Amino acid sequence: MKLFEDKFELFFNDLHLQQFKEECLSKSLKEFKINNGNVPKWSVVLDELNALPKGELDLNEPYLSIKNIGTTSEHIESNLFKLLPWRKGPWILNDLILESEWQGDLKWQRLKNKITSLKNRRVLDVGAGNGYFTFRMALEGAKKVLGIEPFLLFNYQYAAIDNLINQNLNSILLPLRLEEMPTMPVFESVFSMGVLYHQKNHMEHLCMLKAMMAPESELILETLIVEGPKNYSLIPKGRYANMRNVYCLPSIETLKSWLIDAGYTNINVIDISKTTSKEQRKTQWIGDNPASLEDFLDPSDPTLTVEGYPAPTRAIIICNN
Ligand SMILES: C[S@@+](CC[C@H](N)C(=O)[O-])C[C@H]1O[C@@H](n2cnc3c(N)ncnc32)[C@H](O)[C@@H]1O
Repeated sequence: MKLFEDKFELFFNDLHLQQFKEECLSKSLKEFKINNGNVPKWSVVLDELNALPKGELDLNEPYLSIKNIGTTSEHIESNLFKLLPWRKGPWILNDLILESEWQGDLKWQRLKNKITSLKNRRVLDVGAGNGYFTFRMALEGAKKVLGIEPFLLFNYQYAAIDNLINQNLNSILLPLRLEEMPTMPVFESVFSMGVLYHQKNHMEHLCMLKAMMAPESELILETLIVEGPKNYSLIPKGRYANMRNVYCLPSIETLKSWLIDAGYTNINVIDISKTTSKEQRKTQWIGDNPASLEDFLDPSDPTLTVEGYPAPTRAIIICNN
């Protein structure tokens, strides 16, 4: 926790962020203290990795890579295996290739040349997972990248990677939900990727994202959509492609109308892609239950999920506040 607090101090050492520091810190520390039987095991991993000579984070597409970590790849592997499942990545650590379930570079390629350059911007990455994209945003030269992610394991994965890096990337991951954050209208780029469909109240999520944006800023929204006319949305009964807590999948026109109702402007659909098993795949880093997209689609008709809904299609929208 000491290390987290030191990194926190460094990150919030910014005039625009300082006034939110105390609230973010106390809420984060509270979350880290929540009773979770895995924490002792995960903390040992962080201590082991933090004791090693560190290396530099770099991009080796599609991987985020750290070279020259002062140990064997086997030692890194045995530690990172204690933090399964690795959903987001992929990573190369020394010679260890960590193929996460999601090949995240495919998503990044769809948007990286369409967004306003992140150079010198304060960036918020909502629902950041283990921070694969948070780190990629930092490598684009952002002034600060604040990731928020309520799932505790992913915060430990982020810290494990961060403990292997020797540079200050001006990024941090806090174990918080957007709803728990103070309203901080300071971010020039706000990302919500893979999060909207998990919200019970999608309009509230869109409004909360807007409340975090500095004037004349950019929202990058990536979410599941379905085919259909304006005002159509699918409300799955039970699971969708095996996922729990999927509440509402809009048509693209419905999604645009939600954004207009939330007060966004210049709404621009930059990509619509079907999710393939090249992007979401089974790997040894998923853990004991190695099911992935191919198991969540109907074997006799892969245009449908196992529940009989349209197979996952994702849209990326860029808009302004
Ligand atoms: C499907 S993952 C997407 C991860 C990453 N952004 C990506 O695009 O690959 C969605 C993440 O959002 C997190 N999440 C869900 N609701 C959230 C909320 N209200 N605030 C912040 N994070 C949330 C989940 O814990 C989950 O890790």
